[in-house]
Amino acid sequence: MTLQTILDPERAASSSHGRPTEDGRPMTPAQKQLVQASFARLVPSADAVAEMFYRELFVLDPVLRKLFKSDLAEQGRKLMSMLGTAIANLDRLESIAPAVRDLGCRHAGYGVKPADYETVARALIATLEHGLGSDFTPALREAWTSCYRVLAGEMMAGASECRGGPAPSEPAAQPGLY
Ligand code: HEM
Repeated sequence: MTLQTILDPERAASSSHGRPTEDGRPMTPAQKQLVQASFARLVPSADAVAEMFYRELFVLDPVLRKLFKSDLAEQGRKLMSMLGTAIANLDRLESIAPAVRDLGCRHAGYGVKPADYETVARALIATLEHGLGSDFTPALREAWTSCYRVLAGEMMAGASECRGGPAPSEPAAQPGLY
């Protein structure tokens, strides 16, 4: 199963009927604005959002809980802060690409596998659905899908580099930032 299938099942289904997918396409300016505006709405309740995210994540895959060794509230703040930085820089991702790759490399060290990025994708989308309610429109879902795909793709590329080669289940098809 691909990130596309998990994050955007309707589009993935339609693409299997001959329509092109958005895999590998850069985010449009409108999508960047959608993600930035919706993230700004979540920032005042960032701690609660992070808590909801981890709850979702550990329901989806309880085994992942043991990878998190430090205080989860503090970890949640780091996650939201990193997401905030990335989202603020969607127009100049090349400036943060090295940091995102390093982050991916560190994640390999935490024991994170490429498949775990799919689980996190599902937890993130579920959190956004709960957090934004009816404001989480199909267009917003698609924008977040692109955003996560870009970040996760870059992190996995960083993880592959620090492992010394491409990960077997994440070949070169993973989109880069540009
Ligand atoms: C867009 C994707 C992600 C972002 C922005 C992100 C962000 C972060 C940040 C900022 C940290 C703090 C430590 C550091 O900077 O090295 C962290 C730690 C961590 N993340 Fe992620 N992460 C992402 C995806 C994932 C995924 C897919 C997993 C898989 C389960 C994961 C599991 C962890 C774990 C286990 C730690 C260490 C926690 C600890 O030390 O207790 N992350 N993440």
